[in-house]
Amino acid sequence: MPTVKSLTGKRNQARHVVATALLVLAETAALSGQTTLRDAAAAQGLHIGAAASADEYGPPDLLMNPSYAGALSTQYSELEPANAMKWDVTQPTQTTYNFQPGDELVTFAEANNMRVRGHNLCWYQQFPAWLAPYAASATPAEMSTLLQNHINAEVTHFKGAVFAWDVVNEAFNDPSGSAVPGLRDSIWYDQPGIGQTGTGYIEQAFQWAHAADPNALLFYNDYNIEGPGSKFTAVYNMVQDFVQRGVPINGVGFEMHITTSGYPSAAGLAQNMQQLAALGIQVHITEMDVRLPVGSNGLASAADLATQAQIYQSIMTVCLQQPNCTAFQMWGVSYGDSWIPSFFPGYGAALPLDFNYNPTPAFNALLAAMRTPVPALTASGVVNSASYQAGSVAPGEIVAIFGTGVGPDKPAAATLTNGLVSSTAASTQVLFGEYPAPILYAGSGQVNVVVPFEVTPGQDVNLTINNNGQSSPPVSIPVAQAVPGIFIIGGTGSPQQAAVLNQDLSVNGPGNPAAAGSVIVVYATGGGSLSAPVTDGELPTTLINVANTTLTVGGQPATIDFAGLAPGFAGVLQINATLPNGLAAGSAVPIVLSISGADSSSQSATIAIQ
Ligand code: G3I
Repeated sequence: MPTVKSLTGKRNQARHVVATALLVLAETAALSGQTTLRDAAAAQGLHIGAAASADEYGPPDLLMNPSYAGALSTQYSELEPANAMKWDVTQPTQTTYNFQPGDELVTFAEANNMRVRGHNLCWYQQFPAWLAPYAASATPAEMSTLLQNHINAEVTHFKGAVFAWDVVNEAFNDPSGSAVPGLRDSIWYDQPGIGQTGTGYIEQAFQWAHAADPNALLFYNDYNIEGPGSKFTAVYNMVQDFVQRGVPINGVGFEMHITTSGYPSAAGLAQNMQQLAALGIQVHITEMDVRLPVGSNGLASAADLATQAQIYQSIMTVCLQQPNCTAFQMWGVSYGDSWIPSFFPGYGAALPLDFNYNPTPAFNALLAAMRTPVPALTASGVVNSASYQAGSVAPGEIVAIFGTGVGPDKPAAATLTNGLVSSTAASTQVLFGEYPAPILYAGSGQVNVVVPFEVTPGQDVNLTINNNGQSSPPVSIPVAQAVPGIFIIGGTGSPQQAAVLNQDLSVNGPGNPAAAGSVIVVYATGGGSLSAPVTDGELPTTLINVANTTLTVGGQPATIDFAGLAPGFAGVLQINATLPNGLAAGSAVPIVLSISGADSSSQSATIAIQ
């Protein structure tokens, strides 16, 4: 009778069988090599845009500047007039409209296959000279007529050319401390207002915009609502009320005018997006810039630019992770057309392109964020690497995790660090809760790991994958004591030939069946109670038994001679068993492994018996 030692003495043979069983298709996906923000965003299904200007305030017409126009159309798939569609431009007198600058931007966008985001129909700033004096003596009814006529005229004019509007802009106050923000005083709200109370004027503006263009997406746009806080809560409550009453609103704009010391955490931004997603509301990052201290030349330090780049990458990564984040815009094309230097003296360098429209670290960070897919996986893609069954995982089980962007584009094999299988492969790490899993294989579509022994049967564990600086949203997976699976080495569909050695260490199969009463070696995975503690990634050198293990072949119990961790392998179980005598011959005799009450029957593994 071969002893376990002699059986494992032929480690190469066993290794070949297990390696065959563990063989996975090498991924050949090439890293997407986009070189523009526009192409990289398109590959992610995202529109990236910039605030743009023409000649709304007279010459020079920025769109006539080839460098400006080239950067705008090359790097962005969307533009938003910074000023050309605001009241001070579009209604220069009470009875005249001027949509020419807006039309120029729309024409440019259409010529460059870009979409246009309209901004804005109702705001407390940028009035034409006649408006404030008019409001000072107008009645609410007159203001209502004025606002309705303006919204109807502008939205009708740009109908079909503007896919989304900032209908109302910055209507809430900036609360001091934890005070609940109220609505900002304005000629539209209470000075004298349009005859509505509370958010009524905002609701009315949305209704008028929807009536003028039922197909346009309608957004509320504001700043300092990009993370949890009382201002976001006030906006959220309004949006929730609108949604519940059927007021036509589609989205909220997060302006994202931030600094290196004042920006939302990734978790907070994601939380706000998810709360609005639950209402069916889209989020656009509408006006991102990260202002930096600059010298007299308008340039920032390398250190500040590096910090700024990390912030751009973080915000973009969150947007890519949240399905309802459907547009990402900067507030300007380059350092030269940014509003920052005029409004924040001593600050600038806030955008991804510099004065000469050259990429900055922020540009490269945005590109990196978009070119590295955010790891995406679901619980159903986490399977026992032998049975390919999804469901629970067990301590010490080898699991295959399928998804997108879960590993390096160039597949990475396991490596040893201090004698342990490393829990980092290329730039990939897989965490079960806080515990990194030893990685046996990592590729962009699949990662094979050994579930850390620290997970607790009977509880759920959050699985996250970090790849190339991007982390997946957590996926909750139940943990069981054991999830037995027998490795398969051939055959497709069911039944499938199990990875089994005959007593002479030859590989079992229809052409090489095992004799009844002989010893076979079965390779499996699936955890179970161990006779000694094992370190994550350890290649056992001593015999460590797995308790409560049984094996049936052809429905009859085999005698377990050894059941434990396969010496020299992380996560692999080896079961040496003596087949029952009198076993009927067959090329596909069912073999079922049971550990701690769970079994492998659903995978229909078979062996050949002579
Ligand atoms: O240079 C012209 C001058 O020739 C003209 O006579 C005068 C008439 O008002 O306008 C001058 O242009 C100024 C323009 O910036 C230059 O780009 C405007 O005065 C000035 O009002 C305008 O400021 C705009 C600012 O909103 C007003 O608060 C910025 O361009 C614009 O980028 C900025 O954008 C806002 C968003 O709409 C809403 N979110 C915040 C964001 C930053 O404040």
